[in-house]
Amino acid sequence: MVWSSSGPTYNVAAMTSLGPQKSPRVVVFGNEKGGTGKSTLAMHLAVALLNRGLKVATIDLDARQGTISRYVGNRRLYAERTGQPVPMPEHIALDMSPHQIIEADLENALRHVAHCSAVIIDTPGHDSALSQVGHTYADVLVTPINDSLIDLDVLAHVDPIKQTIHRPSHYSERVWKAKQARAKRDGGSMDWVVVRNRLGQLDARNKKLMARLVGELSKRIGFRVAEGIHERVIYRELFLDGLTAEDLAMLADRREVAMSHVAARQEIRNLMRALGLPDQLETGFISSAHGG
Ligand SMILES: Nc1ncnc2c1ncn2[C@@H]1O[C@H](COP(=O)(O)OP(=O)(O)OP(=O)(O)O)[C@@H](O)[C@H]1O
Ligand SMILES: [Mg+2]
Repeated sequence: MVWSSSGPTYNVAAMTSLGPQKSPRVVVFGNEKGGTGKSTLAMHLAVALLNRGLKVATIDLDARQGTISRYVGNRRLYAERTGQPVPMPEHIALDMSPHQIIEADLENALRHVAHCSAVIIDTPGHDSALSQVGHTYADVLVTPINDSLIDLDVLAHVDPIKQTIHRPSHYSERVWKAKQARAKRDGGSMDWVVVRNRLGQLDARNKKLMARLVGELSKRIGFRVAEGIHERVIYRELFLDGLTAEDLAMLADRREVAMSHVAARQEIRNLMRALGLPDQLETGFISSAHGG
């Protein structure tokens, strides 16, 4: 039920159970709305952690689309092609098949990367059994939303007359269930962070309304709010080489480094800080931002 596009290849069926080990920080990227930047953020944060000297695993629970698997695969090919010292995550892609024991498979996969400091899990932009189970393992759940009422609708219904939060909607309810499942399993808690992502130059009125509604909802259902990354070409143009703007600054790559690359690196760094991830070389995790 498992394939891996790059890095060490694991087959969950062949994995034997390993004993308990020190747990890595598990960061899950989830939102039932598609295209909000989950996979892009997941890969950029995984690379940022690798570049800070941490051992990182990436797990793709959206293996059918396979964005992060392809990104990691492209990165490996770039390293082979150029001989550059590109740090790689240990990558596992889990796919759905009928009659599988999802929870045991994911748990087994997590045990195999238990020596890592961080596990980055990417999930699909729709509901699936695999994604639901993935959510229950989050120490940090990152939900990127674009600054749009359509994206907010997945989290909460907004009263069209009063323009206030009417009630939480399906994804918020799913996160609530995931939190309960997590607490029941190991007593742990989840730091849920909604990230206003792919920020652009949209009109100030929309931004203000979104800020107010997201703020209102955060108090009501208990998540933190963080600013994500801006809409920039640099976040998409390096996919075929599996790189990020930060890699370009660290590798002997002849591409020109533009101001937008510098801004992108800073945005990722700010986001790492907001998520409680180490933003400097070989520093530990920042515990204050972690709810558990
Ligand atoms: N900050 C950004 N600037 C420019 N383009 C972006 C940015 N973030 C994401 N994109 C682009 O938007 C598209 C969707 O991004 P991505 O695949 O990361 O979203 P997703 O939430 O993982 O989608 P899905 O729900 O389908 O898995 C891609 O083409 C990606 O390159
Ligand atoms: Mg994706």
